[in-house]
Amino acid sequence: MKVAVLGTGGGARAHIAKLVELGHEVHVGTRDPQATLARTEPDMMGTPPFKQFLADHPGIELHTFGDAAAASDGLVINGIDGHNAVAALSAIADRLAGKTLIDYAVPYIYNPDIERPWPTPWGVNPILDPCDSDSLGEQIQRALPRTKVVKAFVTQEQATVVDPQAIGGGDHTMFVAGEDDDTKQQVTDLLKEYGWTDVLDLGSLIAARAMEMYAHMHGAIGIALGFGTHFGIKVVR
Ligand SMILES: NC(=O)c1ccc[n+]([C@@H]2O[C@H](COP(=O)([O-])OP(=O)(O)OC[C@H]3O[C@@H](n4cnc5c(N)ncnc54)[C@H](OP(=O)(O)O)[C@@H]3O)[C@@H](O)[C@H]2O)c1
Repeated sequence: MKVAVLGTGGGARAHIAKLVELGHEVHVGTRDPQATLARTEPDMMGTPPFKQFLADHPGIELHTFGDAAAASDGLVINGIDGHNAVAALSAIADRLAGKTLIDYAVPYIYNPDIERPWPTPWGVNPILDPCDSDSLGEQIQRALPRTKVVKAFVTQEQATVVDPQAIGGGDHTMFVAGEDDDTKQQVTDLLKEYGWTDVLDLGSLIAARAMEMYAHMHGAIGIALGFGTHFGIKVVR
């Protein structure tokens, strides 16, 4: 497949590397390819410059977000940071028309004026917006009526998403949600390629609210286990 990955952050890189390993043609989107390649410092999360990642993963093509989406033959993964995703995707709506968009972004807002006290090492936690009565996945679907949006990946660690066997022998659960069954099957097929055996369809995209709100629970479990401890979640039934 020709798959587009929109984003150059840590989550996007996990998908890019795995898709290349699986033999897919990967087109990566960024705001400004020249600016991205000119970066020499790690980002605020300590992620190394993308140019270094490209050198370690030859054969990947870097484009603008729109050109990457247009190069896909059907599947696009959204790895644009949650706060900016709707605006960035709306701007390339024509080039996403008719395609499947897998969204894994968390609508976190990092802002010291509204972050809430939380027992993280840095003492606060970002807020989720939208939350409870709407979700980023639904906002993206409303902004892109000609694109079929599936929410997935977001409840597992980014390294685990592309390598479920890395913990618990792979015996844990991945969720998908969206309006179209064929599209969710397309995403499930990709997840099987990644190695997932337990994919639970949560139904319509309204379930994206629950998947995104799990971000706080994911953080709480991570704090309880100690940062750096890898874990997944399993629905036992
Ligand atoms: N397991 C999971 O599903 C999982 C794991 C980790 C994170 N997440 C969530 O997934 C999303 C992406 O995470 P990530 O770590 O891969 O990347 P990230 O660092 O959160 O975001 C990086 C991407 O966002 C783009 N971006 C930043 N500001 C922008 C703006 N103003 N307009 C347009 N684009 C902008 C950047 O563009 P440039 O390339 O131009 O710099 C870059 O491609 C986040 O919401 C994160 O919380 C999910």
